[in-house]
Amino acid sequence: MFSFHEVSKEFRTDFWEKPFRALDNVSFNLRAGNIVGFLGANGAGKTTGIKILLGFIKPTSGSIEFDSSLGKNRSEIFKNIGYLPERPYFYADLTGQEFINYIGQLNDLTQAEINKNGSHWAKSLKIDFALNRKLRFYSKGMLQRLGFVAALVADPKLLILDEPLSGLDPLGRKEFKDIMNLLSSEGKTIFFSSHILSDVEEVSKDVVILESGKLVHSGSLQELVKGKATKEYELVIDGDFSENFSKLGSTKKLGEFSKLIFNESEYVQVVEEVSKKNLNIESLKKITPTLEDIIYRIGV
Ligand SMILES: Nc1ncnc2c1ncn2[C@@H]1O[C@H](COP(=O)(O)OP(=O)(O)OP(=O)(O)O)[C@@H](O)[C@H]1O
Ligand SMILES: [Mg+2]
Repeated sequence: MFSFHEVSKEFRTDFWEKPFRALDNVSFNLRAGNIVGFLGANGAGKTTGIKILLGFIKPTSGSIEFDSSLGKNRSEIFKNIGYLPERPYFYADLTGQEFINYIGQLNDLTQAEINKNGSHWAKSLKIDFALNRKLRFYSKGMLQRLGFVAALVADPKLLILDEPLSGLDPLGRKEFKDIMNLLSSEGKTIFFSSHILSDVEEVSKDVVILESGKLVHSGSLQELVKGKATKEYELVIDGDFSENFSKLGSTKKLGEFSKLIFNESEYVQVVEEVSKKNLNIESLKKITPTLEDIIYRIGV
C-alpha cells in the first residue's frame, strides 16, 4: 500500500544545538488489506512518521512510495486516504453536520454522497444524535467519533489513524475496534498508532514498532511472538522450595507458597522431583509472554 525508504527526520530546536533525530533511517512496507498497528512509546516518532506519510512535513532524507492502486498522482492518492489526527482540530462554531459537509467538500464529494456516507458512519459510530450541535459542546470521545466519521466520509482505501482509541471509554474502544475489523473485512487498509499493546494485539496481524525513532520490527505479530516466546514454565507449590530445587530454575517465596521458574530442558527433572518429594502443586503452566513483555525485550 505504501513504503518508507530509509526515512529520517531531524528537528532543529536551536541553531547551535545538535539536531534531534525523531526518525532514524526507517524502512518498511505496508501490505494492502491489513490492519497494521504502529507501536512505540511516547515520543518514539509515530506521529512524525504519520505526518511525513501524509506530506504534512518533509523528511530530512529518504522517501515514501505509494502503490499505484491508490492513484497516479498526489491528489488522486490523497483522496484515497482517510486521516484521523492525534489532536483533531475542530472549528468550534460548526455543527457536527457542517463539519462533515466541510470535509466532504474538501474531498470533492457531492452533497448526496456526503449525506449518504456521513449519516451511515455517524450512525455506526453513534454520533448521529449530536450532528446538529456545535462542536464546542462535544465531549472528547464525541469529537473522536466525529473525527472517525470525517475520516470515512470519502470512502478511502487507506485509513491512517493516529491514536484512534485514546479518549474513548471501554465501550467506545470496543466499538472502534469492531468498526476497524469491519472496514478491514471490506478490503480497506488501516494503519493506526497506539501505545496500548492489548488494543493492537486484538485487531492487528501486522505491526510496525519504533523505539526512539528506530525501527525495531515490521511484519507479522505472530512471527514476532513466536520468535521471541520463551520456553519457560512456572510451578507454584504449597510450601517451601528451598531445599528441594536449589539447583533448578529460580525460586521465589510467595507467602505460604513458592514459585519456581524453570526452563523447558529441566521439565522432566522438575516433575520427577515434585512427585518424589510429594509436593503439593498449586499450579504448573507454560509462561506465555504478552506482547508487552516481548516488545520490552526486543530492544534489550
Ligand atoms: N516540530 C517538532 N520540533 C521539535 N521536535 C519535535 C517536533 N515534532 C516532534 N518532535 C519530537 O520528536 C519526537 C517524536 O515525537 P512524535 O510526536 O512523533 O512521537 P509519538 O511516537 O507520536 O509519541 P506519542 O505516543 O506521545 O504521541 C519527540 O521527542 C518530539 O518531541
Ligand atoms: Mg503521537
